[in-house]
Amino acid sequence: MAFYDVYSHPALIRYRTGVCTKATLFAVVVLCLTYISPLLVAYRSQGFWLKRSAYEEQPTVRFQYQILLLAATSGRGDYVAWSTFPNFNRLLGSSLRIPVVSVREEDRNQDGKMDRLDLQLDLPLKPEEEAYSAQLLLAFSYQLFRMSTVVMQTLAFVQHSSSVPGSRLFVSGDLRLQQREPLPHRGLHTVYNISVIDGGSPFASAYDLASIIGAYQQRNLTTVFSCPSPVWTVGRAANAPFQIRAEVRYPVETIRYPFNIYVPMVLNKCVCVCVCSSAQEVQHSLNQTSTLGYYTHVQVLWNK
Ligand SMILES: *[C@@H]1O[C@H](CO)[C@@H](O)[C@H](O)[C@H]1NC(C)=O
Ligand SMILES: *[C@@H]1O[C@H](CO)[C@@H](O)[C@H](O)[C@H]1NC(C)=O
Ligand SMILES: *[C@@H]1O[C@H](CO)[C@@H](O)[C@H](O)[C@H]1NC(C)=O
Repeated sequence: MAFYDVYSHPALIRYRTGVCTKATLFAVVVLCLTYISPLLVAYRSQGFWLKRSAYEEQPTVRFQYQILLLAATSGRGDYVAWSTFPNFNRLLGSSLRIPVVSVREEDRNQDGKMDRLDLQLDLPLKPEEEAYSAQLLLAFSYQLFRMSTVVMQTLAFVQHSSSVPGSRLFVSGDLRLQQREPLPHRGLHTVYNISVIDGGSPFASAYDLASIIGAYQQRNLTTVFSCPSPVWTVGRAANAPFQIRAEVRYPVETIRYPFNIYVPMVLNKCVCVCVCSSAQEVQHSLNQTSTLGYYTHVQVLWNK
């Protein structure tokens, strides 16, 4: 003979106790644990009010073949200079020295993105001239694609001076991204896709290093060449050029962006629900093992 459910209904069982009993105390403690512990967990995991996040990306960097070089040849303010901007070179007159420049960009891991720049610059000096300092500006195009698309032009600035005249300056370091503001997590960002050095200008003020760097540092997104240990070599032969060798690496960057508010809220709700339900399970199993006559409103599905 086959059986089937004719009718079913839930049954409510109430467990009663007085106010000042161990069972009441136990109920209050369990109630507190149910609501407070998930809050603590969410708060301590730094996830409840998460507003910022970060991701990693190797930028697409290309050298723009724009160079500006200044070298002091005495302690009295004499200098020689050169740049890739004809207007600036025209302003220099007798201080202009044309160096021999060789540049090579390398993609070491063959991932289609350049990893470093090697630059060698031999600046000819007259036998009576000495090099006391060197200032070198290099311009790069810098692009990010993973979240928002960022296209911008950036700088690497190298500067070194010494009281002893040198024959060679060697710098090796990373081109690091500096963010004042988190980047938007999507969209196209081309505010800074403008030349850092205005090579079209015929005025000397356009090539003043202090104003170029000053304007550049106003930006919220820049790169900085971090070279902790420049090496200055002394003892130049009378007719030898002053040499500058630079290795600029383009490392993987950690980029900050504002975190989408809806994602953490949903996540946190899930965490709360999970923790609440596991707390309730604990409460139920405690109920089963407790001998306190613990009361609870339980709906037991009555199925005969
Ligand atoms: C950035 O500027 C360069 C020239 O300055 C231009 O060729 C290029 O299309 C620009 N890129 C974007 C995405 O605006
Ligand atoms: C740079 O950041 C400031 C806030 O810190 C903002 O007011 C300004 O609009 C930002 N500039 C650009 C070009 O995004
Ligand atoms: C609570 O305990 C009582 C008696 O020990 C038991 O009948 C009841 O099913 C338990 N409740 C739950 C939800 O486990």
